[in-house]
Formats: sequence, structure tokens, C-alpha cells
Amino acid sequence: MIFYFSATGNSLYVAKRIAAEGEKLIYIPEALDKGEFHYDIEGEERLGIISPTYDWTMPSVVSEFLEKLELDYITKPYVYYVGTFGTTTGAAAAMVNRYMEKKGCGFDALFDVRMPDTWTPIFDLSDEARVAKINLEADEQIGRLKVSIADKVAGKHMHITTPLVTGVVGKRIYDANTRRTKNLILEDGCIGCGLCARRCPVHAIEMQDNRPVWVKDRCAMCLGCLHRCPKFAIQYGRNTRKHGQYRHG
Ligand SMILES: Cc1cc2nc3c(=O)[nH]c(=O)nc-3n(C[C@H](O)[C@H](O)[C@H](O)COP(=O)(O)O)c2cc1C
Ligand code: SF4
Ligand code: SF4
Repeated sequence: MIFYFSATGNSLYVAKRIAAEGEKLIYIPEALDKGEFHYDIEGEERLGIISPTYDWTMPSVVSEFLEKLELDYITKPYVYYVGTFGTTTGAAAAMVNRYMEKKGCGFDALFDVRMPDTWTPIFDLSDEARVAKINLEADEQIGRLKVSIADKVAGKHMHITTPLVTGVVGKRIYDANTRRTKNLILEDGCIGCGLCARRCPVHAIEMQDNRPVWVKDRCAMCLGCLHRCPKFAIQYGRNTRKHGQYRHG
């Protein structure tokens, strides 16, 4: 069973590539919406959590879900984490593991995959060739990772990480600043298609008079609305327009 979150497709791509035939893929925002928090892990089944890194920790939807998650099993399954990231996962794995350890289900293995960094207020994804090169390198790594997970390899197989405390600080910054919906700007050019509202994982956008309106003070700040908008009419600060839009695949 794989629990995953993905806004722009990187982590979804990893989840699909790693999944064994017939393995269940659970999209975390949907489980949150449906209130589905209880899962039975059977026999030799393995359990994976695959998530983007946000501010050196995990997206709010992932922490909200893990807080409520209940797992039933007879023998502890092989449990692994894959963090996708652009620069560093920081303390994301350690932060996620705190939730898993509380359930007696700490990680056996930790992995990460470097992919295009969707935090375009800072990172530039406008160069298609550079983005394609990053994804090509990621592809090779995902291939190796798939084999390791199939073999239930244990241990930490990550690029540079940082101490847990940096994740605690990251979470404070994420909650206090990054996640504020007032940081999102609607530009002229919106055609009122409603895609941003339909796909927002936390239902932070409502269409009013054919325009998106952010109805929550805070969201997951996944930037899915910014990257998916067909008119590129949603921005975050001054740099996102020149840094381009991105979706995996
Ligand atoms: C709000 C936000 C914060 C981010 N913070 C980090 C970070 O701390 N470190 C990092 O390496 N990448 C960071 N990223 C980049 C994403 O983790 C990375 O691009 C990820 O692969 C996106 O996954 P997705 O396409 O499945 O949504 C951040 C992205 C967003 C939207
Ligand atoms: S996705 Fe873009 S064009 Fe469509 S409603 Fe949202 S902002 Fe407007
Ligand atoms: S409003 Fe946009 S950035 Fe915020 S959670 Fe929804 S889709 Fe993601």
C-alpha cells in the first residue's frame, strides 16, 4: 500500500513507478476528504509514504493525515519513505518518522529522489532542457529505488539531510508564512475555467462570478493552482512568472 501526495506530478510519478502490480495507491487528500484513516496491512504487504518536501518538512495534508492514520497488522510490515525534492529534503524524513514511530510503525528504509523544484518563487523551471535533464537523472534513480524497495532493503539512502530541529523550524515557517493564501495573486487573463478550484487538495478556492476566490486563510501551498492554470494567471510573489510553470510528464 502506498500513501502519497503530489501537486505537480513528481511524487505521483515515483509512486506509480514503484508500485507493485495491483498495489493500492492512496491519494492522501482524498482519504482526508472521505475520512478514511483505518487501514489493514496484510501478510507480506509493504507500506510506503511518498511525498514532496515542503520547507524541509512535509506538506500540511500529509501531517494531518498521519496524525489520524490507524494501521492494523499482525507482523510489522516493511515501511519506507520516499521524499521528492529539489534542493534538500532537510528533516522531512525525520519529521514523518515521528508520526510513524508513535504508531509503532517507524521506517525501515528512507529514500529520496531529486526532481524539478516546484518552489518557483525561488527556483527557475523555465529552461525545458534543464528540467528534462533533471527528470532523466531522476528516472535512473527511481529504477534503482524500485529494486531496493522490492527487495525490502533497509537503511537510509538519501542525499544530504539536516537535523530534526530544522524540520521543526521549517514547519513553523511553512505554517506562519508560506501557507498564507494572501501570497497568491490572481492576474488578468483568468478565463474562469474553474480548474484551480476543482483540483485544490484542500478546497481553499471557490469560484465566485467566474473568478477564483481564496476562501481560507491558509492552504497547503502546493502551487498546483499556479502550475496548472491554463492561462498562468496565478502567481506567488514577483518571480514565479519568469520562472515558468511545471507539471511532470
Ligand atoms: C511550498 C513548497 C515548499 C518546498 N520546499 C522544498 C524544500 O524545502 N526542499 C526541497 O528540496 N524542495 C522543496 N520544494 C520542491 C518540491 O518538494 C519538489 O519539487 C517536489 O518534487 C514536488 O512534488 P510534486 O510534483 O509531487 O508535487 C517545495 C515545493 C513547494 C511547493
Ligand atoms: S485555472 Fe486559471 S484560468 Fe482557470 S479559473 Fe483558475 S485562475 Fe482562472
Ligand atoms: S490554493 Fe493553490 S497552492 Fe493552495 S493548496 Fe490549493 S491548489 Fe495548492
